[in-house]
This record gives sequence, structure tokens and C-alpha cells, in this order.
Amino acid sequence: METLTILGGQPLRGTLAVQGSKNAVLPILAAAAAIPGRFALTNFPPIRDGIVTRELLEGLGVRTFLRGDCLRLDSTGPVGSAPDPKLAGRLRSSVLFLGALLARNGKAAIPLPGGCVLGARPLDLHLTALEALGVCVRCEPGRLVCAGRPRGGTVLLRYPSVGATENLMLAALGAAGPVCILGAAREPEIRDLADFLTACGARIRGAGTACLRIEPAPLHGAAHRVLPDRMEAATWLCAAAATGGSLTLTGLRPDHLRPVLKTLSRAGCRITEQSGRLTLCAGPLRAAGPVVTGPYPAFPTDAQAPVMAALLRAAGSTVFEETVFEARFRHVPALRALGADIETAGQLARVRGVKSLHGARIAATDLRGAAAMVIAALAAEGETTLSQAWHLDRGYGDFVERLQSLGAEVHSA
Ligand code: EPZ
Repeated sequence: METLTILGGQPLRGTLAVQGSKNAVLPILAAAAAIPGRFALTNFPPIRDGIVTRELLEGLGVRTFLRGDCLRLDSTGPVGSAPDPKLAGRLRSSVLFLGALLARNGKAAIPLPGGCVLGARPLDLHLTALEALGVCVRCEPGRLVCAGRPRGGTVLLRYPSVGATENLMLAALGAAGPVCILGAAREPEIRDLADFLTACGARIRGAGTACLRIEPAPLHGAAHRVLPDRMEAATWLCAAAATGGSLTLTGLRPDHLRPVLKTLSRAGCRITEQSGRLTLCAGPLRAAGPVVTGPYPAFPTDAQAPVMAALLRAAGSTVFEETVFEARFRHVPALRALGADIETAGQLARVRGVKSLHGARIAATDLRGAAAMVIAALAAEGETTLSQAWHLDRGYGDFVERLQSLGAEVHSA
């Protein structure tokens, strides 16, 4: 999808089933390369990052077969140690193949990962921790080469990095002894990876806490249903809030989204939950800040841009503080082009509600920034053209069709 045209002004109304989580399925796919076995992943999301990772696995020798939302994988044959640089260079999550292939083969070579540009996105936490487990890490021009089966031990993360925690969990699968990760990330996606690995025979304690321990164990294939995508859910809820609509989501885990639900309720939305279904009815919106992002269970950084877009016409001012990434306000210029009143200073942004927004020609910058631009355009009067819309394909499956099912006038060119 290159360009989207959006005619704003329609309140979104309807029901959507939340898809499988991008940020849960990507480490699980890497884990399938680490463990010789046959796997069945249901609730597999139809997103570009998943498709690219599937191609990357095929290139390593893992056979895959997709039917509906079930992806079957067979990694019982030999698996390579160097993913295709053209594919791996497009994803941030390709860095997880370091841990996975170290566990499988005792060596790995990956290109420096791609993904959304949200700042420097260094890898020091991953590499320092792997070295602490005795892995030899060599940085070559444009790629990382690791060798040596990790030994057991305790590693301390100075920041609860999601990717570094996942990488260490995967490397620990092939370690010579128990690995303890202190300062581990606590996101629901970490727990989903731990649930998958446990189904494969791994002995894991403390998933979802800051102290995660993995003991060596014989590993095998497994079946797993991928966690629902809390960020996709947040995106749809923000779109309904921004357009004064009402939306029911099924198949989500509201407990994984509390800070976002609290902010939208404070802003004037009526949110009800009933046995796995959540309904939001938008009211006249009011300021709901301050919104401060942070590692789970704090307000998730991936929801910062969509919630900002939802509050562009809310009465009053809302302050956002982005503490996770140093450059995660890249969507602000496009929101201003749509008529938003946003002031930024370093990691702070202040949104003053305006009476109305208007269509404009804008360009997407990253996955969640692009979602924010669509949300604002849906609330604007007139037509918006969004170029570089391919960012959305990375993390949202059937994006246009799902919006159209809610009554949005959105078309991809
Ligand atoms: C994961 O990225 C997610 N991506 C991101 O979602 C999410 O925003 C992020 O976690 C935070 O929740 C996937 O799961 C594929 P981090 P990751 O390592 O693992 C710094 C989306 O929109 N850091 O927790 O890359 C880093 O620069 C994407 O779905 C180091 O300094 O995030 C950042 O400031 C965007 N050194 C902070 O830690 C390192 O070695 C958090 O990064 C690693 C990270």
C-alpha cells in the first residue's frame, strides 16, 4: 500500500476481532528456528513483518505452511546461521535471530537490523549481555557475527529492553547452564514468548517479572495461539474516540491495555467490558493528561502517537512525555498539517484541543506515527492523502478493509 486517501467526518461504528500481536509473533517465529520441531501458530496476523520473517525462516531451511490464520513450521532439518541480509535488514526483530541461532548452531551472523526510525536504537544491551554469557561478538561493517554456545549465568539489564530480554531468552535455550535475566522487560509479549517456550519444554520462571530464569531442558515442537495485539486494539479504540463513534472489540486482553483504557475514559469515552468483549462509546472529548510513556506496566510508547491523534480536538491541553525513545514525535509535523495545535520541547509534547481539523497531503514516518495520521485524518473535514502508507502494512493486517467495515471512507491507491 503506497498511498491512502481518507475522507474524514464519519464516526466509526461496528465490531472488530483483534488480530494476533506483531510484537508477540516475531520472537516466537525466531524461537521456531532455535528449536528443532514442528509448530502450529494460530491467530497468526497477516502483517508484512510476519511475511518477511516467514521468508527469512524459509531461507534458513525452516519449512512453513500457512492456511487461514494458522502458520505451521517444520524446523526438524538443518537450519543455517546467517539469515538473508536483504530480508533481515528490513526488520528490527531480525536481531532476535542472534539468540535463536546461537542456541541452535552455536553461531550467528545477522545484518544490522532495520525497523522504525525512532532514534538511535542501539544494540549494546543485547551484545553486552550475550558477551557476559561467554558469547564472542564481532561487529563487522553492516553486520554482527556471534560465536560460542552461551554459558549459564546471571545478566543484568540496565534498562528493561524488550528485544534484549527476548534475545537472551532465546540464547538461553542453548546455554550450558541456567540463565537468569535481572532487569528483564515485563511486557505481555515477553510472557507470550515464555508461554510458547514452556509449551516447547523450556523450564522458565519469572516471566512477566524483572527476574526471569531459564534452565536448559530437552525441547520439542508445540502448538500456540498468538496473543491478541494490544497496539492494534489501541489504534482502533483511538480511531473510534477521535471520530465520535462506537466500537466493540472481541478477542482482546483488556488487562494488557489498562493505561490506554484509563486515558481514554478520563478523556470522556465510556468503556464497558464483558467476557472478552470491550465496547467504547465516544463522548465529547476533554484533556486527559499527563500521558507519560514507560516500560510495562506503564503507558506503552507504541500507543503514544495514536492517543495523541485521538485528543487533537479534545477540550483543554494534554501533555505527553515520551521516555522510551528519543525521537518518537516524528508524526507531529503531519498532525500540525491537519490543523492540530501541538508544541514540542525535547521529550515533551503539549496538545491544545482545536475545534476542527482539515484534510492535507502528508507522508507517513513510522508504523504507529502512520496510524496516528490516519486517526487524525478520519476526524478531519475533507480529504487527506497519506503517502508512504506502506509503513502501516508492517503491523496492521487488512488495514483498509477493516477501517471500511467500520464505515470509514478510506481507499488505497
Ligand atoms: C520493541 O522494540 C517493540 N518492537 C517496539 O514496538 C516497542 O516500541 C519497544 O519494544 C518498547 O516497548 C518489537 O517488539 C518488534 P527496546 P525494541 O529494546 O525491542 C533502548 C512497534 O511500533 N535500547 O525495549 O527495539 C532503545 O533505544 C515497535 O510495534 C538501548 O539503548 O525496544 C529504546 O530507547 C516500535 N540499547 C529503549 O531501549 C539496546 O541494546 C527501548 O527499546 C536496546 C534498546
